[in-house]
Amino acid sequence: MAKLAPSILSADFSKLGADIALIEEGGADVIHMDIMDGTFVPNISFGVPVVKAMVGKTGLPFDIHLMIEHPDDILEQFMTPQTEYIVVHQEACKHLHRTIQHIKSLGCKAGVALNPATPLIMLEDILEDVDLVLIMSVNPGFGGQKYIPVATEKIKALDAVRKARGLKFEIEVDGGVNLKNCAELKAAGVDLFVAGSAVFGAEDVPARCREFKEILK
Ligand code: DX5
Ligand code: ZN
Repeated sequence: MAKLAPSILSADFSKLGADIALIEEGGADVIHMDIMDGTFVPNISFGVPVVKAMVGKTGLPFDIHLMIEHPDDILEQFMTPQTEYIVVHQEACKHLHRTIQHIKSLGCKAGVALNPATPLIMLEDILEDVDLVLIMSVNPGFGGQKYIPVATEKIKALDAVRKARGLKFEIEVDGGVNLKNCAELKAAGVDLFVAGSAVFGAEDVPARCREFKEILK
């Protein structure tokens, strides 16, 4: 069964705890946390204090998506008892192999993200080492953008490589995911679905999570 990872970037930050309780009620599997530094992406979201504040407030594991330059300098601080994944961008890491080993040494799963314009070939020599590959289906930085269709082909190609090489990493998609496109993405090979505006923009957030989960079964 594929997993639903609502992105709290689209939550109401003035009542973050209550919004997280809604996705938990709806059966979300993971909380996707978008960390932005204003340099790697043209936006600043939230950082370590907000992540730490959520520890113990929910039973859900954390999926930390680092859209930041120099992630090595701050990786440890995102390692909490609830951190399941830390995901860095290929475009932000000069020594990606070292960074991936660094994440694993902290005791969580290590993921790498690819921007829409970065080809899969850039991950050719690291796929054996990663637990997850995140395919960006929008240019990172903002919620509520339109899905970029090239991501679907990339996901299919990545799934084919995974099968051909007998690898076990998970495939995550992030950006513009909604109730209409998630069935096709599941068929393409996605295991972990990030959805921000499509979840928190709903009138009834728990019901929207359940609608997603029904399709992802
Ligand atoms: C974009 C973030 C996404 C974002 C997705 O930079 O990485 O996780 O919150 O938002 P939607 O689902 O609204 O495209
Ligand atoms: Zn994200």
